[in-house]
Amino acid sequence: MGSVRTAVFPVGGLGTRFLPATKAVPKEMLPVVDKPLIQYAVEEARDAGVEHFVFITASGKSAVEDHFDRNFELETVLAQQGKHDLLRHILMDGMVPGRLAYVRQMDPLGLGHAVWCARHLIGNGPFAVLLADELLRGDRPPLADLIDVHEDIGGNVVSVIEVAAEDTGSYGIVKPGRIDGRRIEVRGLVEKPDPADAPSQYAVVGRYILEPAIMGLLGEGHIGAGGEIQLTDAMARLIGGQPFNAVIHEGSRYDCGSKVGLLEANVALALERDDLVGVESAVRRALGD
Ligand code: UTP
Repeated sequence: MGSVRTAVFPVGGLGTRFLPATKAVPKEMLPVVDKPLIQYAVEEARDAGVEHFVFITASGKSAVEDHFDRNFELETVLAQQGKHDLLRHILMDGMVPGRLAYVRQMDPLGLGHAVWCARHLIGNGPFAVLLADELLRGDRPPLADLIDVHEDIGGNVVSVIEVAAEDTGSYGIVKPGRIDGRRIEVRGLVEKPDPADAPSQYAVVGRYILEPAIMGLLGEGHIGAGGEIQLTDAMARLIGGQPFNAVIHEGSRYDCGSKVGLLEANVALALERDDLVGVESAVRRALGD
């Protein structure tokens, strides 16, 4: 049995950068090729050994619940039409009753608040947090790299990439200690620092293994950058008392919380697909080549 069995998926944000698309459709249901963002994140967690899936939702997000539920009408029609490939696609392995839970965040007070809403469902052990709008891909599920570090060293682990100096203001940034290959000891964390104040260019990208002690800190409700309860602020307070490490993500990463990132992910993943014909020429036509 793996050491990290529960994952939390915060999907309670307003997704304002994609309005009007996200007025009635959750950002996490936006597709990359033919699969919604949230399914990529859930599959990553499942393939890394996670067995319990906790979604932090909000009003207007019921499409996420429906997506992971059975749809008997659709299944019946597909079966009658003999479309067994499609039928397999709409049934996701591992999504069995009792392994999925949904909690309403009620007020969009920030990512830290969203994670805190899962406090009664994570048990006493470490848990994962995955942000579905960060689409990470690699030779193995990127979350598995974090779980490996947790199993070696214990404590908290985050995934990072190196960003351009001028971009630090868009991320939580790590103050690094000892660096050993892809592993970085985390000595501090700063949310969205100006480039001049950034302690490094290692930016946290939406994958976390957290010890349950974070919940007590989040419960204090400190308001941070942007007037929100920031996960970064609570994580920063765990440093020193518990091991805290980062893993440099190897592989591709798409910021699907931004329009350009979502477009890039769609093109990149479509180009990888053998069953899609003509993607490259469609891209060329769009470029006017
Ligand atoms: P973002 O900062 O991308 O915010 O949240 P957002 O509301 O989703 O999108 P924009 O910026 O308005 O376009 C990062 C992650 O944290 C979740 C979001 O759903 C997303 O997965 N989140 C954010 C919550 O679950 N609740 C919140 O109150 C805020």
